[in-house]
Amino acid sequence: MKRLILPGLLVLLVVFHINSQSNNPNYKISYDQRIKELLSKMTLEEKIGQFNQLSNPYHKTGPGIKSERNESFDEMVANGQIGSFLNVLGVDETMRLQKIAIEKSRLGIPLIFGYDVIHGFKTIFPIPLGESASFDRAVMEKSARIAAIEAAANGLHWTFAPMVDISRDPRWGRIMEGAGEDVYLGEQAAKARVHGFQGDDLSWDNTIAACAKHFAAYGASFGGRDYAAVDMSERMLREVYLRPYKAAVDAGVATFMSSFNTINGVPASGNRWLQTDILRGEWGFDGFVVSDWNSLGEMIYHGNVESEYDVGFRGVDAGIDMDMEGRIYINQVKQLLIDNKITISQIDEMAGRILLIKFRLGLFDNPYQYCNKQKEKELTMHSNHLSASRDGAKRSIVLLKNKNKILPITGKVKRIAVIGPLSNDKDAPLGNWRGNATPNSAVSLLEGIRNIAGNKYEILYSEGCRLLNNKENSFASPVLINNNDRSGFKKAVAAANKADIVVMALGETAYMSGECRSYADISLKGLQLELLREIKKTGKPVVLTIFSGRPLVLTDAVDHADAILNCWLLGSESGNAIADVLFGDYNPSGKLPASFPYHVGQIPVFYEQLSSGRPYDPKPDSLTSKYRDIPNAPLYAFGYGLSYTTFKFTDLKLSAEKISMKDKLTINVNIKNTGEYPGEEVVQLYIRDVVGNGVSRPVLQLRGFEKIMLAIGESKEVTFTITPADLAFFRLDETWGPEKGKFQVFIGNSSDNLPLKGEFELME
Ligand code: NOJ
Repeated sequence: MKRLILPGLLVLLVVFHINSQSNNPNYKISYDQRIKELLSKMTLEEKIGQFNQLSNPYHKTGPGIKSERNESFDEMVANGQIGSFLNVLGVDETMRLQKIAIEKSRLGIPLIFGYDVIHGFKTIFPIPLGESASFDRAVMEKSARIAAIEAAANGLHWTFAPMVDISRDPRWGRIMEGAGEDVYLGEQAAKARVHGFQGDDLSWDNTIAACAKHFAAYGASFGGRDYAAVDMSERMLREVYLRPYKAAVDAGVATFMSSFNTINGVPASGNRWLQTDILRGEWGFDGFVVSDWNSLGEMIYHGNVESEYDVGFRGVDAGIDMDMEGRIYINQVKQLLIDNKITISQIDEMAGRILLIKFRLGLFDNPYQYCNKQKEKELTMHSNHLSASRDGAKRSIVLLKNKNKILPITGKVKRIAVIGPLSNDKDAPLGNWRGNATPNSAVSLLEGIRNIAGNKYEILYSEGCRLLNNKENSFASPVLINNNDRSGFKKAVAAANKADIVVMALGETAYMSGECRSYADISLKGLQLELLREIKKTGKPVVLTIFSGRPLVLTDAVDHADAILNCWLLGSESGNAIADVLFGDYNPSGKLPASFPYHVGQIPVFYEQLSSGRPYDPKPDSLTSKYRDIPNAPLYAFGYGLSYTTFKFTDLKLSAEKISMKDKLTINVNIKNTGEYPGEEVVQLYIRDVVGNGVSRPVLQLRGFEKIMLAIGESKEVTFTITPADLAFFRLDETWGPEKGKFQVFIGNSSDNLPLKGEFELME
């Protein structure tokens, strides 16, 4: 298992599909007959072997399990005791193990190799939260497509992505992996990403199986602490948290992963209602469900079962087909069958579901089709992939502030000071869950600025202060270093004094977000705010670029910056993409996929609030729903993001005042670029269901967005279509569907800027 080698062959030209269309995806084919025949030949042990997924012990993505010692993986594969590996990658090693499975195991059932390809394999794209800020379905699909191409070229068949957990709590470190706080954006991102990874045909050698995770509601853990419990009403679960998973099923996702958390007291990995009744019964999912890393075994720590034997029963009963790294099924399932706790038909169904995905991936027809050294060499970090990464990155940047239009930087500026602990950091932009990225391989902000502006401007650089030891790996705790060391301040201030404009890079390093990276304080850490204040005192205009895996609380920083670009963790081409925006080669168009809190005490913070019996009124003598010490509103709202130009929204037209349950409503609106730069705008459509017939309804719900490009002075009409299904909710009688009544329609460019308003009525 040590040979995890990358290849060395030289190669020529590359042909690959970025976008493809077909209406008959093979991921819907059933393969019933072939599975039946195979199952009839398999021993009980071989079936149980399919349930067993083990990690490369030299590349773990979770805590160690005691019983892993003394295992010989080669032998176990030859004996049909392993169905899948995770964290084994590279053509050489996957090919070697696959050969054992095919040539030495009795029935030659191929292995499936899975890996966390979350935002790129070697070419790294913006973290998913950041990329969701693009509000651009094509951007999201393309990065997943390229990630799949690179992963497949490196022997992988399966990614543990997309993560579709909605989160309204930026303290939770894993908010970086999803699409943010919103249902509709979450659904759109889920669909785009599933299709990106899987293409139209899973059997192609450049598509991989996707995995919607973590089922369910992992993003709603108490206090934003990873692995903590989730407790919520069925209404909230169905109307908000479950919807992106459902969208992934509708998009044909091949697999699901259960989550670590309990939900209403029952661990998700032992939860039959979720994993079987809803996922398979209500939604018709026909792929397989993998547990999260020993999430079956962790049921013992949840205290709802006593022994591994009971865990095995709960897992099978719930509908978890594959046991990731837990070694529960391999040790317990046989005895459970002997004891008649579970049935052979349950075991056959589980094995059948895993085999189905192996069939759909084409592994039975050609188990080595993902093992091609030439492709591995040709496709990994292909220059087209890097340019797509830069393109996606610039589209993900959100302009939060631009006082006196100091951006874009123009020819009047001669000297630029680049200051801050993240400004020459080549690692932070790669983010957590960075696939197989080479550490320190991103273009830093300083490099990006030099690449674009090197000859035109004089560039001064000063780190100012240090933040974290970047060499920490993702599962070690990040250690704050030099936290009191202000020795770099003097040089930084001197650089600012010499410059015409200062560009600062502050925020978080790569491993301050991601799994097990929850923080209670999500403002700028260490000496960063102090450094910012000192620089601002020079009187020079300050552009603040924020690097982070989550919405930070920037309230104390805002007044010390003239312009702010939220740059997330943008991937391999980070510095170049930011420079594109700084110098106006690209006009920023990103919008926030999650609210930026004014204060950590507002969390959970999101726009889709239910109406209150005492709606907010800031007057001190009003007894309404509010904080006494801070505003209710976040610092920056969901959907917010500025441009170098301005847009005007006019002429809202609804196709009818009343529609029936069988009709569609068409909504037209005109948008004009009224400013001085060409630019893109995200036209956002929100709905309010005025009366919910016994159920309170949210004050606003995003139900459509379109991103459009407009030249200076240009106008375009955008059309949205709403059907009664878009108005459906979990009604008082606990059924799903729309209710007749009045609806309001709002159009604008942010959840807190909706200048156009209309109304219609839904009739029986
Ligand atoms: C645990 C994480 O929760 C999950 O997202 C990931 O896919 C697995 N480990 C495998 O690395």
